[in-house]
Amino acid sequence: MIITSLSLSLYWLDLTFAGVMTPPCPVLRALWIAELHFRCEGAQRPLAAVEVAAAGNLFKVRQFARRALQNSTAAAASPRSGQIDAMILLLCGAAAVAVYAVCCFTVLRLPKCQSRARLDGKTVVVTGSNTGIGKTTALDLAKRGARVILACRDQKRAEAAVSDIRRESGSSEVVYMHLDLASLQSVRSFAETFLKTEPRLDILINNAGLVVEGTTKDGMGMIFGVNHLGHFLLTLLLLDRLKESGPSRVVNVASKAYEVGKIDFDCLSTHKKLAEGKSSLSLFFRYSHSKLCNVLFTHELAKRLQGTNVTCYSLHPGPIKTDISRHSNLLWKMILFPILTLFFVDPVSGAQTTIHCALQEGIEPHSGRYFEKCAVKEVKAHGRDDAVAKKLWELSERLCSLA
Ligand SMILES: NC(=O)c1ccc[n+]([C@@H]2O[C@H](COP(=O)([O-])OP(=O)(O)OC[C@H]3O[C@@H](n4cnc5c(N)ncnc54)[C@H](OP(=O)(O)O)[C@@H]3O)[C@@H](O)[C@H]2O)c1
Repeated sequence: MIITSLSLSLYWLDLTFAGVMTPPCPVLRALWIAELHFRCEGAQRPLAAVEVAAAGNLFKVRQFARRALQNSTAAAASPRSGQIDAMILLLCGAAAVAVYAVCCFTVLRLPKCQSRARLDGKTVVVTGSNTGIGKTTALDLAKRGARVILACRDQKRAEAAVSDIRRESGSSEVVYMHLDLASLQSVRSFAETFLKTEPRLDILINNAGLVVEGTTKDGMGMIFGVNHLGHFLLTLLLLDRLKESGPSRVVNVASKAYEVGKIDFDCLSTHKKLAEGKSSLSLFFRYSHSKLCNVLFTHELAKRLQGTNVTCYSLHPGPIKTDISRHSNLLWKMILFPILTLFFVDPVSGAQTTIHCALQEGIEPHSGRYFEKCAVKEVKAHGRDDAVAKKLWELSERLCSLA
């Protein structure tokens, strides 16, 4: 009965989404079809249906599903259906556990940064470092002897992070400086204070990020303003200090989500945000667009830094269990909870690619490139579009009143 209900629910979804929603995993799909076939044919040859599914014949899949719907009531009454249900459930469970175990040892395993570099006498700024990936990055760099500036917006949370990092690293060279990326004025004040008080800057890590509705103090869409524009201005204001301290690096924490991002310049010029819409999905897309901005900004920055001793990199940290979805509504939190629990990894693993980009020796020839799992990854064509990167740079300059 359970399998029948599941099958029919999936069939319903299948109809609803015009054939898009068959179970995505081939094993699950095969089991589903075996069950549907059983319903249709009275369990004569359920394995034949597995073969059909393995061959990916979705047309036949739908035919089976339709007939299954018609015959389901009669078939469910059969005594053999209970046994098959149990068997299929067991197989589904075993397949799910096996797939999960394989994922844990392959796609979900993130490599560790191999560099043993020490950073004594060097200064690092990490934005959004009071929690999540930024905090574990800051801790690692403090353990390597760097003077670490936690550039954060909330004094209480930042000071708590400073004392945690000082305690765990044994370093007293960890300080908080106020930075609210949702205000260009705050970015300017941060840069002014920093340039007055800190004689060098060896690594700037633009890590802070959010997924939330709203508008910055300057009237920009919050996601665009914080994830891209604030970091853009910060980097440009600190660039001379980076050059004086070279060889130095800028690391932009982007996301694989950039792959589905696009830059709608009309929307940006008219509404000062990357896209319109109020749904959670549109929020996610705005986040993706902002992460594309990070990738394009890095691409253009590398070009403009040619001939200097400053290099820059963008990266995807991996799927990391942090508080980034803290602003989601309850429904999304409930949907995300099992996914985060099962498929997302700890922030220490999530900091490895950032640390790699910040200090791995020999990656300078890859300036401007995008990294994943501590290695260079070919960026999709729209993430290295010279014309779009230049246009975004020029628009960002105008929005920051730099041009
Ligand atoms: N977690 C993932 O799976 C994942 C995947 C791909 C990319 N990323 C990227 O990784 C980066 C770090 O994210 P995370 O997962 O560590 O998220 P997180 O735990 O939510 O940390 C985000 C940090 O950004 C700070 N922040 C937000 N708005 C700010 C503002 N206006 N000014 C200054 N700081 C601000 C937050 O400060 P408050 O505590 O004050 O809010 C927090 O310290 C982000 O750029 C994110 O896009 C994460």
